[in-house]
Amino acid sequence: TLRSVVRGIGSYLPEKRVTNDDLAKIVDTSDEWIVQRTGIRARHQAAEGEFTSHLATKAAERALAEAGLKGSDIDLIVLATSTPDNTFPATATTVQANIGMTGGAAFDVQAVCTGFVYGLSIADNFLRSGSAKHALVIGAETYSRILDWNDRTTCVLFGDGAGAVVLEATMGDGSIHDEGILAARLRSDGTHKSKLFVDGGVSSTGTIGKLRMDGKEVFKLAVGMVPQILHDTLDDVGLPFDAVDWFVPHQANSRIIHATAEKLGLAPEKVVLTVADHANTSSASIPLALDVAVKDGRIKKGDLVLLEAMGGGFTWGAALIRW
Ligand code: ACO
Repeated sequence: TLRSVVRGIGSYLPEKRVTNDDLAKIVDTSDEWIVQRTGIRARHQAAEGEFTSHLATKAAERALAEAGLKGSDIDLIVLATSTPDNTFPATATTVQANIGMTGGAAFDVQAVCTGFVYGLSIADNFLRSGSAKHALVIGAETYSRILDWNDRTTCVLFGDGAGAVVLEATMGDGSIHDEGILAARLRSDGTHKSKLFVDGGVSSTGTIGKLRMDGKEVFKLAVGMVPQILHDTLDDVGLPFDAVDWFVPHQANSRIIHATAEKLGLAPEKVVLTVADHANTSSASIPLALDVAVKDGRIKKGDLVLLEAMGGGFTWGAALIRW
């Protein structure tokens, strides 16, 4: 059985760090309100002239270095973003050129905050079917460009950043002890569009638009919908929740994450939380959090890691990886 095994991981945050107190100078908010409602203390912001492809390329180069591979070894890039450099071409092809990858295929995936889980699942299908050997899966965002800086209910919640993994198609024995992606599930439901969307776009308004969100509704839906897909993902391989070593959810809000972990009976010390330092970086949040937990020694080879995300669309998904 072919499995998609993680050979390297890397991430990148823009230099500029913006604290809650910094935001309190531009909108009517406070560090206390933001920390209490969201757990966020700071976020990073791309500099002028620094695009999603720049963040993505840096994260990809770090993941490649860890994997001991060159850009020319990669034959697939799946880049998840809802803040691409341009309407077209795909940001993935810009990254392809930047890393010196001359063959294979590169494309973007748009699943908002679930983008990285979508990207992983897509790449996993390419690798397990033998259509590619080495894939880069990247989540990269510059949400600072689509925030309404006059709307305190949304502008305090998001940040910029990127994360990437290198996957390699590797022969396993088909058991739950194999390294690599053991299961992945994707879902979407287009009926909730009005609760989280950008009010512009190429075909509708001809403008970029700004992010609009009904925070309370999103909160309710997130806590309500996510547990089922996690149960289904573990059921796919017949594993119980207490087999999970690390839960690495999309980092939108520490209250959503705690409520979800509690519902599943996952111990708080198994939950990787980076929302305090990164805020919500959409498709970049999971690979950023994974990279932190790998580099600080929490996630080790052989650990069972459960990923989960939920975002605009609505889209949601989960993946189970033997690291
Ligand atoms: N600073 C100070 N006060 C604020 C701010 C702010 N930044 N934002 C809102 N308020 C005020 C509101 O105006 C309201 O005042 P009022 O009572 O006088 O009307 C009060 O605070 C309470 O507002 P609520 O919206 O009721 O606050 P709530 O407890 O629901 O928290 C929040 C809002 C944090 C957005 C919460 O609903 C939430 O976390 N929702 C989920 C959002 C999310 O995570 N989205 C992303 C998930 S999907 C994805 O990642 C794309």
